[in-house]
Amino acid sequence: MRIFKFYKTSVGKKVVVAITGFILFAFLVLHMLGNLNIYSGAEKIDAYSLYLRQFAEGFFGFGGFLWIVRIVLLSAFILHIWTIVLLVKQNRRGRPIHYKRKKRFAATIAGVTMLATGPIILIYLVLHILQFTTGTIQPTPYRVTDAGIGSAYWNLWNAFQVWWIAWAYIAVMAMVCLHLKHGLWSMFQSVGMNNPDRNRSVHVFAFVGAFAIFIGFASVPLLVWTGVVPPPPQHTNAIDAALSQAGPDLSVEEK
Ligand code: HEM
Repeated sequence: MRIFKFYKTSVGKKVVVAITGFILFAFLVLHMLGNLNIYSGAEKIDAYSLYLRQFAEGFFGFGGFLWIVRIVLLSAFILHIWTIVLLVKQNRRGRPIHYKRKKRFAATIAGVTMLATGPIILIYLVLHILQFTTGTIQPTPYRVTDAGIGSAYWNLWNAFQVWWIAWAYIAVMAMVCLHLKHGLWSMFQSVGMNNPDRNRSVHVFAFVGAFAIFIGFASVPLLVWTGVVPPPPQHTNAIDAALSQAGPDLSVEEK
């Protein structure tokens, strides 16, 4: 089939890396924006978490749509990594002997950055899902609501009280953004925007985009750890309230 023939070429692989990278980038933007709900309070972020599961519930069932998104993301993720491995191998085989030194150095720095941050992000991702989505590892108090979902506000607030968890998150976010900056840059190269006139603006766009995502993500652990984000309500949250249809009751019980 033509599509497999195209995939076999180096250009085909670069296009696949660019498309799958874009899907992952779009997820990161949405995830970062979703996390910012924490600044609107426990009710907002927990209601958002519930909404993700209730979306198109009539058609797919509770959480069904989220599973479709997860499958698309996981497929994009696997294809992204696998294609990069193939590309690296292909490039090594086809590298011309008179490859300019300066170019090789620049390519090496970018390549090393991508290859070093990639596996760290992968390890982070596994630990992150086990910590916040499944609650399998609970270094800090973890709360599950009546709907069986981790209570985002409660769990984030408790996790980022611990200095090393907050700072580990901030450090990994810096790596994610370094990865993104190079990734966005090479994505534009792959789709043919490697015109010298545009190179500067592409660099600026990649830098600003990645930096904005860094600020959005890293602000959460930082502002929770520094005490700017207030503690969660003690006895209930929006998800429990919504499911018991009693209306949100977020008052903090004073003892
Ligand atoms: C400070 C930064 C971050 C915070 C505070 C954060 C917070 C969270 C929370 C609370 C959840 C659980 C959401 C729920 O179950 O409704 C979650 C899930 C998840 N996060 Fe993050 N996240 C951060 C950064 C990232 C990054 C950089 C990535 C990707 C590299 C990522 C990937 C994921 C994935 C894949 C899930 C699972 C989604 C699912 O299948 O339900 N997160 N995150």
